[in-house]
Amino acid sequence: MTHEDLDTAQMDVKKPVILIVDDDANNLAVVSDCLTGFNFTVLVAEDGESAVSRADYALPDLILLDIMMPGMDGYETCRRLKLQDSTRDIPVIFMSALDETGHKVQGLEAGAVDYVTKPFHQEELLARVGVHLSIRELNRRLVEANKLLEARVEERTRELAITNRELEVEIAERQAAQEQLQKQTVILEEKVEELLAAQKALRTSEQKFRAIFDQSFQLIGLTTPEGIILEVNRTALDFGVAAESDVLNRPFWESPWWTYSPEQREHVRKAVQQAASGEFARFETIHLTPDGATHYFDYSLKPILDEQGTVVMLIPEGRDITSHKKLEDQLRQSQKMEAIGTLAGGVAHDFNNILTIIIGFGSLLRDKLKDDDSLTHILAAADKGAKLTHSLLTFSRKQIMETQPEEVNEIVRTIDKILRRVIGDDIAFHSRCTPEKLVIMADSGQMEQVLMNLAVNARDAMPRGGVLNLETERVELTEELPDPSLVPGSYARITVSDTGCGIDEEIRQRIFEPFFTTKEVGRGTGLGLSIVYGIIKQHGGVVTMQSEVSKGTCFRIYLPLIEAASTMLRESQPTTRMVGGTETILVAEDNDGVRHFLVKTLKDFGYQVIEAQNGEDALAKYRANCNRIQLMLLDVVMPGMNGREVCDAVKEEGGQVRVLFVSGFTADIIEQQGIVNKGAAFLAKPVTAHALLSKVREVLDRRR
Ligand SMILES: Nc1ncnc2c1ncn2[C@@H]1O[C@H](COP(=O)(O)OP(=O)(O)OP(=O)(O)O)[C@@H](O)[C@H]1O
Ligand SMILES: [Mg+2]
Repeated sequence: MTHEDLDTAQMDVKKPVILIVDDDANNLAVVSDCLTGFNFTVLVAEDGESAVSRADYALPDLILLDIMMPGMDGYETCRRLKLQDSTRDIPVIFMSALDETGHKVQGLEAGAVDYVTKPFHQEELLARVGVHLSIRELNRRLVEANKLLEARVEERTRELAITNRELEVEIAERQAAQEQLQKQTVILEEKVEELLAAQKALRTSEQKFRAIFDQSFQLIGLTTPEGIILEVNRTALDFGVAAESDVLNRPFWESPWWTYSPEQREHVRKAVQQAASGEFARFETIHLTPDGATHYFDYSLKPILDEQGTVVMLIPEGRDITSHKKLEDQLRQSQKMEAIGTLAGGVAHDFNNILTIIIGFGSLLRDKLKDDDSLTHILAAADKGAKLTHSLLTFSRKQIMETQPEEVNEIVRTIDKILRRVIGDDIAFHSRCTPEKLVIMADSGQMEQVLMNLAVNARDAMPRGGVLNLETERVELTEELPDPSLVPGSYARITVSDTGCGIDEEIRQRIFEPFFTTKEVGRGTGLGLSIVYGIIKQHGGVVTMQSEVSKGTCFRIYLPLIEAASTMLRESQPTTRMVGGTETILVAEDNDGVRHFLVKTLKDFGYQVIEAQNGEDALAKYRANCNRIQLMLLDVVMPGMNGREVCDAVKEEGGQVRVLFVSGFTADIIEQQGIVNKGAAFLAKPVTAHALLSKVREVLDRRR
C-alpha cells in the first residue's frame, strides 16, 4: 500500500485511531512518528494495564502491541483485550524482535491478527496496518450490513408476525364464518327436510282429498265467480260427460250436463250470478244420461269468500235425488189412492144398504107380481148399481175377502182359456208358467178378475193386433224393492205385458183411480185398474206399471209367497144351493131396512128368526134363547158392540153356535182379516135372497 492509498482509504472517514503499546519510549516515538505522518491519530501506552484501560476508553481502530513488556506481557494484554466486550473486536498486531514461528503462533492464539518484526520496515508496517484497518473496516461494514440485515429481517419478521396475526385473525374469522355456514347449512338442511316432509304431507293430503273429491257420491266441481269450470270430480265426469276437456274452462251452464232444456240452462246461468253475488243458490234440475234415463238432481252453488268477503270461487254440487223423488211420488200416489179409497168406500157402503133394500124387497115383490115388467127394470138397474158399489168396495179394500192358500199357476191355467176368448184372434197370446208351485193366500175369484181386467185393457190397447204375454215366476226381493210398501222376501210375480199403444207420461199417475178412463163413453167405466189395485193391495201385494208410448205396457204383480206349500191347498168348494130350513136364527142388523129384508127372507123359507137391533140386543137375546139358536147372522159394523164382539162374547160364555157375518164394510180391515183367518163365514152386501139362503144353508150344514 502506498501513502496515497492510505490517504484515500482514510479520506472520507475520520482519521483512524491507532494505539501503540510499548515499554520502550524510542520504539514508541519511531512508530508514532511513522504513523502520524500518514494521517493516523496515534495514542500510546507504555504497559499492558494502561493499554487495556486506554483501549476501553478510547476504542482505537487498531492496536500495535509489543510482546516483551515488564509486568503484563503482550500475550496477556491481548488476552485481556479479547476478554473485554468493548475491545474484543479491535484488531491487535504484535510487534517483536522475536522472529520465530513459535511466538507468532502464540500471539495468534492469544487473539492477534498479525505480527511485525522489529526493526520495522516502514512500508511493511503501513501495509499491514492498512490491510488490517481495511479488514476491520470491511468487518465493521459487514457487521453493520449484518445488523442492517438483521434489523431488516427483524422488521420483516415483525411485519410477517403482524401479517401472520392478521392472517390468523382472518383464518379465525373464516373459520367462524365457516362454522356459521355449517350451522346455517344444517338449519337449511333441516328446513329442506321439513319442507320435503310438508310437501309429502301435502301430497298425501292432496291425494286423500282428491280421492274424496273424485269418489264422492255427489257431483262436485269448482268454478271461478264467473262460472268458468276449474275442476270437476270423477263422479260428475262419469255422469254423462266423456272427458275433462269437454268441460274445463267452459261456462258451467254451457257444460254437457244441461242438455235437458234451454230454460234449465238459463236457470243455471242465473244461479251462477246469484252465487257470484255471495248468495247460496239451490235448485232442482233434470238430467238425461247418455242412455236416455231421466235423473233428478238437487243442485247447489256455494260461494266461497276470502277474508275481505269477496267471492273467490263457487262450488257447484249435485245430489242425485231420483230415487227419493220416486219414493216421494210413490208415497203421494199411495196417499192419493188411500184418500180416494176412503171416499169411494164410504159412498159404496151407504149405497149398499140402500141397494140391499131395493133388491131384497124388489125381488120378493117380483115373485108376487110376475106380470109387471117395471120391477125387472128396477132390479136390473139396482143390479148394475150393486156391481158398481161392489167394484168400489173392491178398490177401497172394504170388500170382504175369503182367502185361502192358492197356487198362482193354477189360477192362471183356469183363466187362460177365457182370456184367449176375450182378447180375440188378432192378438197373439203367450202364457208362460214357472214349473215351481207358487202358493199364496188368495181369493181365487178376485185374482181371476185381476187377470181379466189387465187382459181386457191390453186388448183395448192393441186394436190392430199385437202380442200379450202372461208370465209367472218366483222372485226374491232384497234391497231393490219395486215399491216401498213391500218388505224383502219371496214373492210370486205375475207379469202381464202388451205391445200396445202405451200410456202417456201425464196420465200414468191416474190410471189406478176409480172412474179414470181414456175410453169413450159407454166403452169404459175406468174401474178396471182400480179393482186390480184394490184386490192386489188387499192380498198384501203390489202392482207396478212400466210403459213406453207406442211400444207397449207391462204390469207386474207381486204377491207374498207362503212357504207352507201345496199341502195347504184346499179341495174344491162345495156347490151352493138355495134351500130353506127350520132352524132358529138370530139376526142382528142395525139398519132397519136390511134387517127386515133378511128376517122376511129367512122366515119365508121356513126358518125361526129372532131379531136384534144392535150388538147388545143380540147378546141379550142369545143368552135368553141360547138353547134353540143354531145360527147367528151378524152384521159386522154396528154402533156399540159390533158383530165380531158379539161373537167373541158368546164364545167366551161357552156358546157353540155357528156364525155368519154380513158386511159390505168394516171400519178396520185388520179386524176383518182377523175374522177371515179364523175361517168364519161371510156374506157380502148387497145381499140377494139367493145368496143369503144358500150361504145360510151352507153354514148350517158344515161339518163341525
Ligand atoms: N195395457 C194398457 N195399455 C194402454 N193403456 C192402458 C192399459 N191399461 C190401462 N190403460 C189406460 O188406463 C185407463 C184406465 O184403465 P181401467 O182399466 O181402469 O179403465 P178402462 O179400461 O178405461 O175402463 P174399464 O176397465 O172400467 O172398462 C184406460 O182408460 C187406459 O187409458
Ligand atoms: Mg179396463
